Parts: sequence; C-alpha cells; structure tokens
Amino acid sequence: MAHSVSFVKTGVPGADTMLNGGIYPGSAVLISGPPGSGKSILGMQFVYAGAREYGESGLMMAIEETDMSLSEYAASLGLSEWDSLVKRGAISIVTDDYFSRLDLPGSLEGIMNIVTHTSATRMVLDSMNLFKYYFPDDMDRRRYMLKFIRILKRRGITSLFVSEAMEVFPRMELTDEMFMSDGNINLFLSRAGNNVERCFWVTKMRRQSFNMKIVPMSIGVGGIEVYPEAIPYSLSPEA
Ligand SMILES: Nc1ncnc2c1ncn2[C@@H]1O[C@H](COP(=O)(O)OP(=O)(O)O)[C@@H](O)[C@H]1O
Ligand SMILES: [Mg+2]
Repeated sequence: MAHSVSFVKTGVPGADTMLNGGIYPGSAVLISGPPGSGKSILGMQFVYAGAREYGESGLMMAIEETDMSLSEYAASLGLSEWDSLVKRGAISIVTDDYFSRLDLPGSLEGIMNIVTHTSATRMVLDSMNLFKYYFPDDMDRRRYMLKFIRILKRRGITSLFVSEAMEVFPRMELTDEMFMSDGNINLFLSRAGNNVERCFWVTKMRRQSFNMKIVPMSIGVGGIEVYPEAIPYSLSPEA
C-alpha cells in the first residue's frame, strides 16, 4: 500500500507543480545557479511562505546579509510581513551580524547548536560558501557538511542549501554537494539573440517524482513565479 506523506510546499507559485506537490519532508535540497539567478529570493520565499501560509517556522541563515539588509531585501520584494514574522519568532535569522560577534570556532559550534535546538521545520543556508570559509580542505568540508545534514534529517527539518554555480546549462558543473543532497534545483539565465530569460530546472529529487522540463520563471512582486506550462523561447525547438 502506498504510504502517503505530506510534501513540503515551497510556496513559490508554479514550483510546487513542477515538484508534483512539493519537497519530500526532511530532504536537503541544493539550489544552484549563477549570481543573480534568484537563489537567495527562492530561499527567502521558502521560509516566508512556510511561516505565513503553512504555520511552519523557519530558520534563515544568510551569511552575506545583515539583519537590516535582509529585511530591506524582503521589503523590496513585497514580502511585507517579513519583519513581523521575524519579530514573532516564526522566522529566525542568522546573518553576518551573528558571525561578526564570534570567532571562527565559536561560530561553527554556534550554528551546530542552533540547528540542534531550533523549533524550525524549514531551514535555508545562503550560502554553502560558509563551509568553504571554514574548511579550505575538501575532505574536512565534506565531513562537516554531512554531519550538518545528518542533524537536520534527524530532526525532520526540510532544508535548502544555496550554491554558486558558474555553469548550469547546457553544460552543468557537477559538484560534491549535488551528489550529497537529496535534490537539485537549478536556476539559470538563458539567452537567444540579445534576449535573456530566467529558467527553472529540477534535476534530482529523491523519494519522489517531479517534472524535469526546463521552464521559464520571473522575479517580481512577491518573489519568484515559475511557469510550468510555458516553454523558454530561447530553448524552444524553433529558436
Ligand atoms: N525587489 C526586486 N524586484 C524585482 N526584481 C528583483 C528585486 N530584487 C531582486 N530582483 C532580481 O533578482 C535578482 C537577484 O536575485 P537573487 O536571488 O538575490 O540572486 P542570487 O542567485 O545571486 O542569490 C536581481 O538581479 C534582480 O534581477
Ligand atoms: Mg544570493
């Protein structure tokens, strides 16, 4: 008999359709793409929608933002309840304000402590560069990442990890993180002539089915919207 689980809704319009309902609970999903492709916005929307629409508290670790810049970014995107959700504790944020108060070993221990004790069921780490700063050695970094992911899984937290990728399509840069994660969502910019459009592409999702087509997306008020029925004009057979 099929065992039914309730999938974690990303809250990003159109994305849950591509994911056939959402993300398998407890998954660690990698969001890859070049600068400006929408990774940080996708992360913010995921915790925002969780807190606002689904009653799930979220933990947002944005290591290159401050509490203030994150709040301003949310406001500019029309995520108007961001500050009040943060104030209420429905969204917890860990930004550079946190890291700048601590030394290196202290902050590593600190974030382990946060994920071990958080009541959040959604987490975003923006970005994986955090591990690069702390662990220049690949094996050490891998070991720490696995430990981090293991804690999240044990606690049933569904997580998004943001990763910078220089190439996504048609050549994809394959990284360790892609093999270690349960899912891969790729965001990228595609060009035809001098037109550039935003694209959304799911390439891996363990324990679930999904739509692997490359579809267009946009960024505007409310954040990202994905268009599951549309074909990117730059990738259409006639282009
Ligand atoms: N308030 C906004 N309104 C409309 N578009 C925005 C807004 N803020 C950012 N964008 C678009 O989103 C892009 C950055 O998205 P972001 O998620 O921060 O990228 P990254 O993948 O580098 O994390 C910007 O280059 C811009 O095109
Ligand atoms: Mg970013």
